[in-house]
Amino acid sequence: MTAWHHLSRRSTAAALLATLTLAACRPASTPPATSPATPGAGDARYSGTFAGGWRFPEAREAAFGERSMVSSNSDLATEAGVEILKSGGNSVDAAVAVGFALAVTYPFAGNIGGGGFMVIRMADGRTAALDYREVAPLAATRNMFVDSLGKLTDKSVVGHLASGVPGAVAGLDAALQRFGTMTLAQVMAPAIRMARDGFTVDSALYRSLSGARQRLCRFEGCSTFFPDGQVVPPGGTLVQADLGRSLQLIADRGPEAFYDGPIADALVAEMQRGGGIITREDLHAYQPKWREPVVSDYRGYTLITMPPASSGGITMTESFNILERFAPLPAFGTPEYTHLLAETFRRAFQDRNAKLADADFVPVPRDELTSKTYATGLAKQIDLRRASKTPAFETAPEPEHTTHYSVVDAMGNAVATTTTLNGGYGSAVWIPGGGFMMNNEMDDFAAQPGSPNMFGLVQGEANAVQPGKRMLSAMSPTIVLDRDGKVLLVVGAAGGPTIITAVSQVILNVIEHGMTLADAMRAPRMHHQALPDQIRVESIGFPDQTLVALRAMGHEVVTTQGIANVNAVMRVPGGWQGVKEPRGSGLALGY
Ligand code: DON
Repeated sequence: MTAWHHLSRRSTAAALLATLTLAACRPASTPPATSPATPGAGDARYSGTFAGGWRFPEAREAAFGERSMVSSNSDLATEAGVEILKSGGNSVDAAVAVGFALAVTYPFAGNIGGGGFMVIRMADGRTAALDYREVAPLAATRNMFVDSLGKLTDKSVVGHLASGVPGAVAGLDAALQRFGTMTLAQVMAPAIRMARDGFTVDSALYRSLSGARQRLCRFEGCSTFFPDGQVVPPGGTLVQADLGRSLQLIADRGPEAFYDGPIADALVAEMQRGGGIITREDLHAYQPKWREPVVSDYRGYTLITMPPASSGGITMTESFNILERFAPLPAFGTPEYTHLLAETFRRAFQDRNAKLADADFVPVPRDELTSKTYATGLAKQIDLRRASKTPAFETAPEPEHTTHYSVVDAMGNAVATTTTLNGGYGSAVWIPGGGFMMNNEMDDFAAQPGSPNMFGLVQGEANAVQPGKRMLSAMSPTIVLDRDGKVLLVVGAAGGPTIITAVSQVILNVIEHGMTLADAMRAPRMHHQALPDQIRVESIGFPDQTLVALRAMGHEVVTTQGIANVNAVMRVPGGWQGVKEPRGSGLALGY
């Protein structure tokens, strides 16, 4: 771009900016109890109009169920959840069924070799947050991913050292034991059936496996996913006999089969063969942990979300507390709104990247970061006309391979669960005989504090590798209660750090901008994570003049194809709506 061109773009933007009504958005001295743009559940919602040419057309229907709803990235996993609900299970039974089914039908993210987080709100008002995140093996060391010249290697991403000790099996079982009503064998039946007898491959899985062939075929999973050397075409049947046997063992013997029994043997043998460090002792010691959810109030709505080892809840709460100081929020899609979100997320992510980590290892200032007073101080720093600055870093491409699912049942019990192997198909390391892939979650640590990880996240010493420690996550399973204390939204996402900002935006679209759930989900998304210092926007989603105005404010703006992968359920009059991610695969289904 020539200097002249650059200048002329800047002055056009400045002229445009002058006509914008920044005055409409002033920091509020006290958060108002209500805002003109905050309808409650059941109020009329507008159908959003987004930038011309936006790829998700209007009038997309949400699924509706009078009694219950499941939304996930896999049609068959959603159907497994509905099967359990229809046979009398509650939403925790169904969520556990969906979790195991995803391990079969959505192998790029669903897993038994990974971990996750679950937020639960029972109809009687009990809330819980389950942390079944992987932990660093006992033999892990702070500099295990740095070479002798001090350079960060790729070993936190590929191969045997990339894996944390898996938490999925222990976690799903813990949720079931505490809040479920069915046995492990009952809720695992759909997953076992689909692994053992096979299931019909859809085009999403076909595309994904085709693209991952080279990586997967470095390890033993190749023969399962490419029987006869070919990827199973859409409509064909994929059988995973070893996985079926492993799931059956877990159903029969409980998590012990995975952590102390034959599956542990297979896992440790593969680690020894490939130079990994996970031992029997690591597996035996693994424990999922019940935590106090992060609960906060935003203009009368209640957010119930995930504490460390996820950064999601604290970062979202800090962001919402900052936004609460501004009333009303600028209109959706305007440069003022995108700027305010960017400045808000920038500040929340600065804290996230420096201060958050596994609170069992590092003191985390949770009360301070989630306090209204602290947010007021940050809100005051925001200049509504100018971008602030953080030093720039190069970012890395972002794999899309976590998965979130939301479940509600007829009683009103709600479960939000996010689970992952981290990158697509994790480390790609396959456990022969076990029939499953291992995670590459070690990359979520600050493998070299100050250097960006695969998501471009620059994190500090607090999140350095330590044996037995959980790596910091961005997963943000969240339940929002309306002003009457009833479940309004069950939401969460995949997408690394964009999880936090995308989940926040879907919630804001519903409670601030009055959108239907379908529109809240299809609405164009933006992202800011402090470093790299740039606003990412979905291409075509924002009018050109918005991007020009944001650049004139001093933001670097980059466009990207799609941001995050959300699955959500919302209460509407007479029942529940569910919407699966328009940018991804899956199904929302209720009855
Ligand atoms: O825990 C985290 O924040 C990451 N391991 C999540 C990875 C992810 O969302 C990748 N997929 N889209």
